[in-house]
Amino acid sequence: MLFVDSAKGSFIMHKKTIIQFITLALAASTASSQEPAKAHTIGAPESYDVSSLPDDHYGRLVRYGKELTERTFAYIGPEVKTPKMRYAGNNLACVSCHENSATKPFAMPWVGAHATFPQYRGREDEVSTIDERVNGCMERSMAGKPLPLDSREMKAYATYIHFLSRGVPTGGKVEGQGLPPYKAPDRKADVQVGEGIYKEKCASCHGDKGQGVRAGAVGSATGYVFPPLWGNDTFNTGAGMNRLLTAAAFIKGNMPLGSSHAQPQLSTDEAYDVAAFVLSQPRKVKLNLDKDFPARWNKPVDAAFGPYVDGASAEQHKYGPFQPLQVNMKALKEKLSGGK
Ligand code: HEC
Ligand code: HEC
Repeated sequence: MLFVDSAKGSFIMHKKTIIQFITLALAASTASSQEPAKAHTIGAPESYDVSSLPDDHYGRLVRYGKELTERTFAYIGPEVKTPKMRYAGNNLACVSCHENSATKPFAMPWVGAHATFPQYRGREDEVSTIDERVNGCMERSMAGKPLPLDSREMKAYATYIHFLSRGVPTGGKVEGQGLPPYKAPDRKADVQVGEGIYKEKCASCHGDKGQGVRAGAVGSATGYVFPPLWGNDTFNTGAGMNRLLTAAAFIKGNMPLGSSHAQPQLSTDEAYDVAAFVLSQPRKVKLNLDKDFPARWNKPVDAAFGPYVDGASAEQHKYGPFQPLQVNMKALKEKLSGGK
């Protein structure tokens, strides 16, 4: 009996293997008859319409997440009525940078972002979840405190990001993800030239002193029509936007308002200098930045805070030229990364 049983067992195994084999063969033949996987493209804003979602738990979280993204200041800003809800330290909204409700290509859209987490992050030298990434922007771009992981607000952000990422497979590329490609000029940025560009092309909206234009009175938790670029009510020194190459790429692909990666209004040089002028101005200081990028070899060359392991000056890390730093960092990375 034992013999029969094991024979039957092996037959079952065998049948399973055959089925697996056929499935694999079929998959291989369909794959080979197709083009290599194309990058997913971001749809028009209508394709992310949240109003058609059912009024169930998921639908309500997605809608709240979108609302929080567009009107952050009204729910978790520093001027909201309930003190314990004051998580953000400034009156910006996520959409001050993640434009068009986080669906604009090359303005760090969240389309497909869900599928790229958990991911290794150099700033922490560990694997982070999407929730931790949201809190990265809460503590830096929004100059505030982290949202509790079990809060309705955190669930709403994660669910909205999930909704925007529907149809993008894990590891799938999205055309327009992140920032536009940006090759910085091989020179130090010129803050004075940048000031001239700022007066001519930015001050009309963002103000002479970078203070922006408020939507309502101070204390009304109504945010900005045009967000501030420096001073106390904007991103802090630890934010991605406080890095020159990040800011220049964002500005070239998205500013003045109405520009896009396909239709930029600034040259590469103008974006570089105006970004340097904006970042030369005062803003809230994030403490303990020396703890960022604990594996020093993967610290971005434009992280404008020490310590640095390459011997270059803080000034050069802030204003360039970056090419020589990039060459150095590449060599250090090969030596120290241990294949991470
Ligand atoms: C001052 C600009 C700014 C604001 C405001 C801002 N962010 Fe970000 N965010 C960035 C930048 C820049 C990046 C990407 C570059 C980086 O990591 O440094 C980013 C990346 C992200 C990512 C990862 C996207 C990806 O493709 O991996 C998430 C998620 C995110 N932000 C969430 C938020 C949330 C939620 C808010 C509002 C509570 C917010 N951000 C507000 C600038 C901003
Ligand atoms: C016509 C008005 C207008 C002009 C001109 C303009 N911006 Fe903006 N800017 C905006 C608005 C509005 C936002 C918020 C994003 C949105 O609503 O799409 C923004 C967002 C930003 C942000 C990210 C948010 C923040 O507070 O830091 C930066 C950086 C920025 N602009 C820089 C610039 C620079 C530099 C120039 C000049 C080259 C410029 N902008 C010109 C309207 C403008």
